[in-house]
Amino acid sequence: MNFEFTEEQIMIQQTAKEFAESEIAPTSVERDKNGEFPTEIVKKMADLGFMGMMVSPEYDGAGMDTVSYVLAMIEISKVDASVGVIMSVNNSLVCSGLEKYGSDFIKEKYLKPLARGEKLGAFALSEPEAGSDATQQKTTAEKDGRFWVLNGIKNWITNGISADYHIVITQTDAEKRHKGITAFVVEKGTPGFAHGVKEDKLGIRSSDTCSLTFENCRVPEENIIWEVGKGFNFAMNTLNGGRYGIASQACGIADASFSAALKYSKERKAFGTEISNHQAIQFKLSDMATKTEAAKLLTYQAAALKDAGKDYVKEASMAKLFASKVAVENALDAIQIHGGYGYVREYLVERYLRDSKITEIYEGTTEIQKMIIARQLLKD
Ligand code: CAA
Repeated sequence: MNFEFTEEQIMIQQTAKEFAESEIAPTSVERDKNGEFPTEIVKKMADLGFMGMMVSPEYDGAGMDTVSYVLAMIEISKVDASVGVIMSVNNSLVCSGLEKYGSDFIKEKYLKPLARGEKLGAFALSEPEAGSDATQQKTTAEKDGRFWVLNGIKNWITNGISADYHIVITQTDAEKRHKGITAFVVEKGTPGFAHGVKEDKLGIRSSDTCSLTFENCRVPEENIIWEVGKGFNFAMNTLNGGRYGIASQACGIADASFSAALKYSKERKAFGTEISNHQAIQFKLSDMATKTEAAKLLTYQAAALKDAGKDYVKEASMAKLFASKVAVENALDAIQIHGGYGYVREYLVERYLRDSKITEIYEGTTEIQKMIIARQLLKD
């Protein structure tokens, strides 16, 4: 067992940290307040190769390993979890899925600009009546010559407004349950395809989330990902990869909460001394640091297994389950340590709590992660 990162991994981690502190941090408070998408930041991240980190250079990606991706995601999310999720969806759910399952045509036309970060992607699986129970797709696609005609509504789509290319999961044969589900790439601007208004969210407010509607939207058959009837397997396999992305985002938030609490506890005085000298605060800090480290180790493990070409489904779900719980708990503890100052915007920790909660919900709720882990345990 080796707990050392390579020189390249450390360099990427350092680059992400410096970028986050110099380019992302200065606008994060305002963007959170105004719900403003970080368009310029995403462009700069593309220049660093952060929008297609794990994609092979053959498809214009940065060709980095999963551990590097996780390290960069943690540093970015530590400063701004909204930017973290934009990066995670493009890398883990969109680019990774297209690289593994897309045809040569899809890779050339869609993956390359996505990996270069010139275009942004979204992943549209959830629907008003199909969240955790993802086989219940109501968005239909019917074949009409060389085209498929899409009708239906998608919900809670991250990057939904800003994305250029959307991966859309549809039902093509209701009789066949998950084997009657098919995935397409749908371009922004295709007639019959529209996005709804930006959701007014509790947290990750600088990322955009919206519904998508399809009304007789004609998509060419060459935009089918993998093949007809493979859309559910595509979504499940791709989401396994997304989960270490969200685990990394949660680790970043947990780390931010711990760091803020540590700093504040060394500055704030009560009962004649810095509050860091009180055992009640020390115990909280110890728990926060230990849990953050454990969450990171689970996340690194999932990433390292993937890099080694081994099965990582259980480990990715464990990482997401644990890291998201720690993100929420650390944010709450950070607020408690800050007292009244933790409850106002000035000290950022209230944002960490608002941003943390979604990590227990999207890309599979906490309860879904437990289902996946249990199924893997019972299978072994
Ligand atoms: N990995 C790979 N394949 C899986 C899988 C997994 N974790 N879970 C199920 N499958 C496969 C099964 O092997 C089976 O395929 P075969 O028939 O080819 O063997 C197929 O999926 C159906 O399996 P089940 O009948 O067991 O599936 P199910 O109906 O019981 O559901 C589930 C399984 C894991 C609960 C699934 O519905 C699920 O993951 N739900 C959560 C969906 C989710 O994560 N949504 C998040 C939306 S995306 C998002 O949030 C993005 C964003 O914008 C940030």
